[in-house]
Amino acid sequence: MAASIDPNMSCRRHHIEELLELLGTQFLEMVPIRKMKWKDEETAALVATPQLQQRVLHATVLNPVCRLHPPALSYRTHFMKQLIQKLEQLDAEICDEVYETYTDLLTQREDDDDTLCYKTYTLPDGDRVSLQESVNLVSQGTTGLSTWQAAQHLAEWIVENPGVLSDRNIVELGCGLGLTGVVACRACSVKSYTFTDFHAQVLFLLAKNIETNLSHPPSSSLQQASPADTRDKKMFRKIKRQLSLTTDKTDLSCTPSGDHSLGAGEDTGMEVQAVLSPDKPNNNMGVEEAGEEDEDEISVSEDDEVRAAGNGAKLEVNEARWELDGKQQTAVLRADPRVSVCWLDWEQTSTTPGSSLQADVILGADVVYDPSIIPSLVRLLRKLLEPGKKSKAFIASTVRNEDTRDAFLIALSSEGLSYSVVEGPKQELFHYDRMVPIEILKITFQPT
Ligand SMILES: C[S@@+](CC[C@H](N)C(=O)[O-])C[C@H]1O[C@@H](n2cnc3c(N)ncnc32)[C@H](O)[C@@H]1O
Repeated sequence: MAASIDPNMSCRRHHIEELLELLGTQFLEMVPIRKMKWKDEETAALVATPQLQQRVLHATVLNPVCRLHPPALSYRTHFMKQLIQKLEQLDAEICDEVYETYTDLLTQREDDDDTLCYKTYTLPDGDRVSLQESVNLVSQGTTGLSTWQAAQHLAEWIVENPGVLSDRNIVELGCGLGLTGVVACRACSVKSYTFTDFHAQVLFLLAKNIETNLSHPPSSSLQQASPADTRDKKMFRKIKRQLSLTTDKTDLSCTPSGDHSLGAGEDTGMEVQAVLSPDKPNNNMGVEEAGEEDEDEISVSEDDEVRAAGNGAKLEVNEARWELDGKQQTAVLRADPRVSVCWLDWEQTSTTPGSSLQADVILGADVVYDPSIIPSLVRLLRKLLEPGKKSKAFIASTVRNEDTRDAFLIALSSEGLSYSVVEGPKQELFHYDRMVPIEILKITFQPT
């Protein structure tokens, strides 16, 4: 006789699995604790048994992904605090593993620094993209050390529209830490993908993120710590130290222009308003901090003087993994030569190698936020679009300020570029704040 299935039981199991997946993906993405969705209280109550509490731990803080690519320590600690509070509210018997895990995190607090962390984004097939990011939205005078909502939005759109990029040469402008590009390279069979940006620390971390996510086999953080990579270790220390010096978690308020956004990943769950003022190129990785002596200092070489003379940054990449061009401004990933990183400054197109790139499709996420940079960005778009004629650009922008958006549209028209708004992604893949509208513009040289 066939065993009868209790429909309530299977429905309950389904809810539990859904909740565990929801918690796990939000946790790995470092969704602010206060904004984390627990489904409803009734569903949350399902995980109140000791066995299911352990499953929550294994979906989050004890997840193998979290061990390899950990979110910020303060974030993990806050998550555990929130879990314990929830269980207390439910009057649940809290299992020892929950307290042990929390205590473990509290003891780590003293010796770990928390300026860089991993955020892991889960794709529809369960595949993951882990990016090393700053815990703060704006740091070191750049917005490029965090992943912005527009990059997540554009990545979601790409996952739903892979045909747009398949078999095409793609150039991404102001790519930041690489989420859009890594997702594009995973989801579409691109002919080539060139990640471009102009900020030295952004380019350094971007190269690391590409190594982690697009090399086969992937290079792990453990490999990064090998003795052969001493220079990388120094670079990481330098970035972390600069981040801890320039970080101000409380003063992320509106700029005079009124251009602002809600932050997506503040570790304490505090709602953040981020300044989006002009980025500074910071071409010099070896810059000295005032009054600081450090035996690990990266020496300022003659090359640095060349940079200071305005001839552009040199990419600081691991040559075992990247093949650099003569000027060290373009690097090709050895593990996948379709992928390259290029130093490209929209304001210095005569000296930047990237401006002569061949692109079938140009991408950009959250690159339209600073009115002063719009003219050079649009001139570069025209330069890249005109020769191909059939080339297209897809620019995703968080519309924080109508004036900035209008200035961009007017600049496009005056450069002879036409545009239309494309339909955004239908499915919500990532857990970013969707209150501020994000728009994807398709831009072409000739009217469509
Ligand atoms: C708001 S961030 C967006 C980063 C990424 N696309 C995202 O959405 O997560 C803007 C990016 O544009 C880059 N950027 C700003 N001005 C630039 C310029 N003049 N030339 C090249 N890149 C620039 C910054 O370095 C930064 O990475």
